[in-house]
Amino acid sequence: MEVDLTRVLCAIHELADPGARGFTVGDGDWPLQGFLVRRGGTIRAYVNRCPHAGHPLNLLPHRFLTPDRSLIVCSSHGALFELTTGYCVDGPCPGESLTPLAIEIRDGYVLLAAEAADSSAPVAALGRP
Ligand code: FES
Repeated sequence: MEVDLTRVLCAIHELADPGARGFTVGDGDWPLQGFLVRRGGTIRAYVNRCPHAGHPLNLLPHRFLTPDRSLIVCSSHGALFELTTGYCVDGPCPGESLTPLAIEIRDGYVLLAAEAADSSAPVAALGRP
């Protein structure tokens, strides 16, 4: 099966472990802004919008994690989120969560799932622990 290039977010080797990478999908005034987070064999995608005040989480390209890369951090007011759940564990919006996006892994690439509007499958496994 061929990879649908319009949905490719990045190649798996472009994601550090643990690491994060931002992406934009679509054109026009309101493209989808999101980011990928990898830890071990798991990759998750979230909308790049903080539940606190709606700001993008990063100020610099691809900078979504704390220095020790154990949590996602919002650069605006310091909210901290778990990598694997997007759940806010500290900062101004505890108990709220990032919005997950459905993704899939195909032929070494991370793709936005065709049903990305349905957030029921926000995780893709690389097939190893
Ligand atoms: S907008 Fe993210 S912590 Fe305030």
